[in-house]
Amino acid sequence: MAEFSLPKNSKVNKGRHFPAPAGAKNVRAFKVYRWNPDDGANPRTDTYEIDLDACGPMVLDALIKIKNEIDPTLTFRRSCREGICGSCAMNIDGTNTLACTRAIDECKKAEVPIYPLPHMPVVKDLVPDLTHFYAQYASIRPWLRTQSPAPAKERLQSKADRAKLDGLYECILCACCSTSCPSYWWNGDRYLGPAVLLQAYRWIVDSRDEDTGARLDDLMDPFKLYRCHTIMNCARTCPKGLNPAKAIGEIKKLMLQRRGA
Ligand code: SF4
Ligand code: SF4
Ligand code: FES
Repeated sequence: MAEFSLPKNSKVNKGRHFPAPAGAKNVRAFKVYRWNPDDGANPRTDTYEIDLDACGPMVLDALIKIKNEIDPTLTFRRSCREGICGSCAMNIDGTNTLACTRAIDECKKAEVPIYPLPHMPVVKDLVPDLTHFYAQYASIRPWLRTQSPAPAKERLQSKADRAKLDGLYECILCACCSTSCPSYWWNGDRYLGPAVLLQAYRWIVDSRDEDTGARLDDLMDPFKLYRCHTIMNCARTCPKGLNPAKAIGEIKKLMLQRRGA
């Protein structure tokens, strides 16, 4: 699993402790990374004890409870709370995952550590700065690119061709995989990383797309694609069960065919 390594901020201090309410019988502690760019202080971890008998089952439920009832300054992203938007991605219990689909019961550590996605700049608390990640996504021009005239109704696809998108279209761009990838940690300025490469492959194999050659040529670069060393953290951590490493391998195979062509 993708082990936690510190975000691109400095040393983390031990922070405040918020005990469980008196009489709570089913208590779990959450040790949460805190950093506020406006207070000039070092990052810290605050510990919140939660009464699980008065909390929903997911880690996101605990975070919302903390924010609503204990500490409104805690900052994190979330929207759909059902594993679709990707915005609640963070490092929970040592693994990059979605707070809304990770059950508190599945967490192993007594004090559940919650940090932002590793090796990214932090905006505040659990919110990573994904500006560069999104710019890399935009760089692959992730939309249907065609030269032929648009048909009267729609561009059709056979069932078999549509099936080639399975395992790719489900990606929610949560960035759990890219931020678990050691190659992306060290070369993320130029290596596109597993999430963006899986998305690139999603368009390369789409039978309706007419720019496959240009898409492959764009990736023919010592850094954009070839920094993947098949370490497989990406596939192990993906909360949607996808395998970006396999998609990267498929792109490499197509590159070989293109070079031989
Ligand atoms: S491949 Fe999985 S981990 Fe990576 S961005 Fe997509 S959904 Fe998230
Ligand atoms: S398989 Fe490639 S993309 Fe996935 S974690 Fe390893 S180096 Fe990164
Ligand atoms: S809140 Fe949307 S994926 Fe978790």
